[in-house]
Amino acid sequence: MKKIIVANWKMNPATLQSAKRLFDSIKKATKNLKNVEVVICPPFVYLSNVKCPYTAEPSGLRQMSNVKLGSQDCFWENSLKNRGAFTGEISALMLKNLGCQYVILGHSERRQYINETDEMISKKVEAVLKNDLRAILCIGETKKERETGQTKKVLKTQLKKCLKKIIGLPARFLANLIVVYEPVWAISPNGPCSVAEALEGILFIKKNIVQIFGQKIGKKIPIIYGGSINSQNAYEFLKEKEINGVLVGAASLNPDEFISIANQA
Ligand code: 13P
Repeated sequence: MKKIIVANWKMNPATLQSAKRLFDSIKKATKNLKNVEVVICPPFVYLSNVKCPYTAEPSGLRQMSNVKLGSQDCFWENSLKNRGAFTGEISALMLKNLGCQYVILGHSERRQYINETDEMISKKVEAVLKNDLRAILCIGETKKERETGQTKKVLKTQLKKCLKKIIGLPARFLANLIVVYEPVWAISPNGPCSVAEALEGILFIKKNIVQIFGQKIGKKIPIIYGGSINSQNAYEFLKEKEINGVLVGAASLNPDEFISIANQA
């Protein structure tokens, strides 16, 4: 399985010029890497201004290089429903028509600041998969939940609720699911989590995914790790066979850092 290296720029950078510069440096340095899928997720406003070579196919736009475009969220309704009367929202279809192939969903910062619930996230996962995009679903426990011994219960509940609406979808849709184990307490500047702790969470998620979708589909769903990954610690995580990639926040804003991480995969 190719390692998946995702850059989540969050609400950065502040100008289009900086976004283009950052995107181009990462693309140039990583486009020919083998065995790695690099996904860059800029804020919505920059998506149509950064360039990934793509071809138009009946199922949507397909980028040709190893570098793919992703967004950090989307709405659950389609643009055509209710004449698109969902002010301020962006649909999966719009993203697809722009050349996006990936969508991060359920990030803990959205759960924390926007009050996104597992139920909302489940609808978003369904919308993304039904549009033939890849959903990067984030789950993870808070510091308090970990300290009170609730980690496994939290992960199990988040998986069950966030995946509720896609149970029973044909395998070709489910093949586009990626799950991120991102313990909230391990996100910079607080992290990192140890490799052993990341592995424990990832193996638990893998076990649950197989229970939900069965061996055949479940075994193929990549589970990646997120939280304080940088060029110094990336290899420790990426060398583990069971860690199928990393979701990188702060370090993805520094091209040298992110390129180094991708090269270690
Ligand atoms: P950091 O890599 O800055 O810890 O962020 C992790 C994250 O939230 C990625 O989505």
